[in-house]
Amino acid sequence: MRKRRFLRFTKTGVVLTLCAALLLSGCAGKPVAEEKKSVRIGVSLYRGDDTFINNIRGELEERAKAYEQKSGIKVMLDIQDAKGSQNTQNNQVERFISLGCDVLCINPVDRMDASVMIDRAMTAGVPVVFFNRQPVEEDMNRWDQLYYVGVDAKESAVLQGNIVVSQYREDPASIDFNGDGKVSYVLLEGESSHQDSLIRTEWSIQTLKDGGVPIEKITGGIANWERSQASALMEQWLETYPGEIEPVVSNNDDMALGAIDALERAGGQRINLIGIDATTPGQEAVQAGKMLGTVSSDKGRYAQAILDLSAAKALNQPIQTDIPLENGKYYWSAQEIVKKVKQ
Ligand code: BGC
Repeated sequence: MRKRRFLRFTKTGVVLTLCAALLLSGCAGKPVAEEKKSVRIGVSLYRGDDTFINNIRGELEERAKAYEQKSGIKVMLDIQDAKGSQNTQNNQVERFISLGCDVLCINPVDRMDASVMIDRAMTAGVPVVFFNRQPVEEDMNRWDQLYYVGVDAKESAVLQGNIVVSQYREDPASIDFNGDGKVSYVLLEGESSHQDSLIRTEWSIQTLKDGGVPIEKITGGIANWERSQASALMEQWLETYPGEIEPVVSNNDDMALGAIDALERAGGQRINLIGIDATTPGQEAVQAGKMLGTVSSDKGRYAQAILDLSAAKALNQPIQTDIPLENGKYYWSAQEIVKKVKQ
């Protein structure tokens, strides 16, 4: 009797020990989740030939290398160009998911049409960090694994406007060339569907008004962020309004550079141009004295935020505290004015 009880006791002990071992090893025979040694990030760019996006891409690649060295975790960045097609981008998202990407970084082609990509990501349980082209709020609120990295468009515009305001206050004649008491400007606008275009246009002009610059609009046009389109518009305006254009207010650097191209073709007339982005060619133009100024959206921090958010999501780690997120999902990159460094 005692022997049987002892046997039963030992059997129970063995079963309990086995259960405990199973539990410790992750239950039901599954091994404990090994620490990830690599992360796979699928990146889709709305257009690889966009200067600003290209600058961000370069920063992202550098930051990924630095992250690898520091953490010992391999970062596999699969960067694809959607070449302006939402359909192509949807297919890229599909492919990233089938390749087992841990996280997606998407610069949407059509920011109003992110729902298909969100559906796919949600079904597959793959978090998404959108950047630069902000999906509508309704889409962003569909899942708590959607993030956005960008710059505050109003802030960019106010800083841009202030470049002109301070120059005008310092030396009105350097802005109002013909001294007629009016600052006659032309405006180059980005894509009409882009959140940055409308807000930048509104607030850069409002800042000029608030700053007491006596502005008068000659004309404006949409050049879709593109240097060549801006150059063509500026060429027309120089013909239609000879000697009248004082500042050129541009929603981004590339279009300001296009206006410079047209000015140079027309004989190199001196005009004040103000951009936004501080892209590499934009900064060069400022330092060469071809542009009055631009606004820098710290692209290093911008790319770092994309990378850190992605790595945290891929590794299932908490998001670092140095990435402040508005409403738990929006990261706004810091900005500052860039003017010619006085020698
Ligand atoms: C930038 C532009 C860029 C556009 C692309 C804007 O925020 O200022 O230079 O072309 O984003 O989406």
